[in-house]
Amino acid sequence: MSSSRPAAVVVLAAGEGTRMKSATPKVLHDICGRSLVGHVLAAASELDPENLIVVVGHAREKVVGHLAEIDPDVRTAVQAEQNGTGHAVRMALEELGGDVDGTVVVVCGDTPLLSGETLLTLASAHSADGNAVTVLTAEVPDATGYGRIVRDGAGGAVTAIVEHKDASDSQRAIREINSGVFAFDGRLLADALGKVRTDNSQGEEYLTDVLGILREAGHRVGAAVAADHREIAGINNRVQLAEARRILNDRLLTEAMLAGVSVLDPATTWVDVTVTFEQDAIVHPGTQLQGATHLAEGAEVGPNCRLKDTRVGAGARVDNTVADTAEVGPQAKVGPFAYLRPGTRIGLKAKVGTYVETKNATIGEGTKIPHLSYVGDATIGEYSNIGAASVFVNYDGQDKHHTTIGSHCRTGSDNMFVAPVTIGDGAYTAAGSVITKDVPPGSLAVARGQQRNIEGWVARKRPGSAAAKAAETASREPEGEG
Ligand code: UD1
Ligand code: CA
Repeated sequence: MSSSRPAAVVVLAAGEGTRMKSATPKVLHDICGRSLVGHVLAAASELDPENLIVVVGHAREKVVGHLAEIDPDVRTAVQAEQNGTGHAVRMALEELGGDVDGTVVVVCGDTPLLSGETLLTLASAHSADGNAVTVLTAEVPDATGYGRIVRDGAGGAVTAIVEHKDASDSQRAIREINSGVFAFDGRLLADALGKVRTDNSQGEEYLTDVLGILREAGHRVGAAVAADHREIAGINNRVQLAEARRILNDRLLTEAMLAGVSVLDPATTWVDVTVTFEQDAIVHPGTQLQGATHLAEGAEVGPNCRLKDTRVGAGARVDNTVADTAEVGPQAKVGPFAYLRPGTRIGLKAKVGTYVETKNATIGEGTKIPHLSYVGDATIGEYSNIGAASVFVNYDGQDKHHTTIGSHCRTGSDNMFVAPVTIGDGAYTAAGSVITKDVPPGSLAVARGQQRNIEGWVARKRPGSAAAKAAETASREPEGEG
């Protein structure tokens, strides 16, 4: 397909996006883990253009910063004042050195659902037909606000695009609209842009006027109709942002399900474009999978999980959990109600149970931390058991310290491991211990106050109380009864 490889793709993103009512520039709003302009760039790069250039204007420092982050090869052109889409493209061509030989594709930065496939179809139709310009159009249920495609009789050649604000009543009845996506012959485009005037209702240089100019000069003007009109929807406000997110999310989940993933409730499952799955993964309702999250074969996640940049191993089970940058080993169990923070690595068949928080912790194969614990800055070996309500005391108020626990250890409930501290293989610790010193392998560490019983204290200090009466009754009853 090298014949249709465009010389440039120009992405228009200088507008303000007032209707978003946001401090964030419109094209930087996110759907499914990617900015609006990021989606457009991803589709555009499927054309493999020689130049990918974004026209920036409003809040350009933020937009340029973002572009540098997501794709360092993207070029930018500044349009200081937003004098219209034609003016914007003119700024891009100037940045590219004026005369661009070959195909120039123009897309808007606010159409995140546009697919690379549709762009490829447009570019190949454009070169196959030898057009000066090919516009991507669509039939929409409600054409309000869009530029209308005027044809020479029904189904005839495109003669012009008329903006909604400039259209007559009969033109407004047209349902075929301009998507804002075009393929142009670069030379003819540059030439025609020099002839665009501003005598329209908005006083702007309209890119759409280029069509009429080229046609009048006797060049071929063509149109490609998008298969799915929803693809070309531009985002102008947060309602449309939510609708687009829903559509993209459905696309991603459909793809996953067709590849063998069970999604129990697509309506309450949200995924980013970067999430990957293996066959027979299962996703329960209320689950959000973000970033580089990966579910391996047979991994089962949810309900109610939010996993970001987290890898879940084959056959692992993660229930009601929040995880960020964590690794869950094959057949491991996590939750319900666990919080895995960055640097958590859970080994094969290990368990991180209910109300357990972990951070920067390596938990070995078969090790269990079943209940109510905080495990921060720790290495735990294989097949150890950490008692309920244990805290890895990693912070002295100034610095973080590490705790190392060996393999086959049994630590008691309600332990404090005051780091830095090391517990050797096969060691035990008593319940309620505050472990401040290393424990040698195979030892039992007891680090708690001795218990003292003061007999008859209640009868002396709380005479006549319900407690005293209960104690008196108990002392009269033979043991084992009651
Ligand atoms: C434009 C088209 C219209 C089409 C619609 C599709 C024109 C004159 N009209 O209208 O036919 O149906 O898109 O969504 O082209 N932009 C700039 N600089 C500017 C003006 C706009 O970069 O000076 C960018 C915007 O950021 C946006 C895109 O161009 O990404 C489209 O601009 P917008 O103002 O939304 O055009 P519409 O009125 O929607
Ligand atoms: Ca628009």
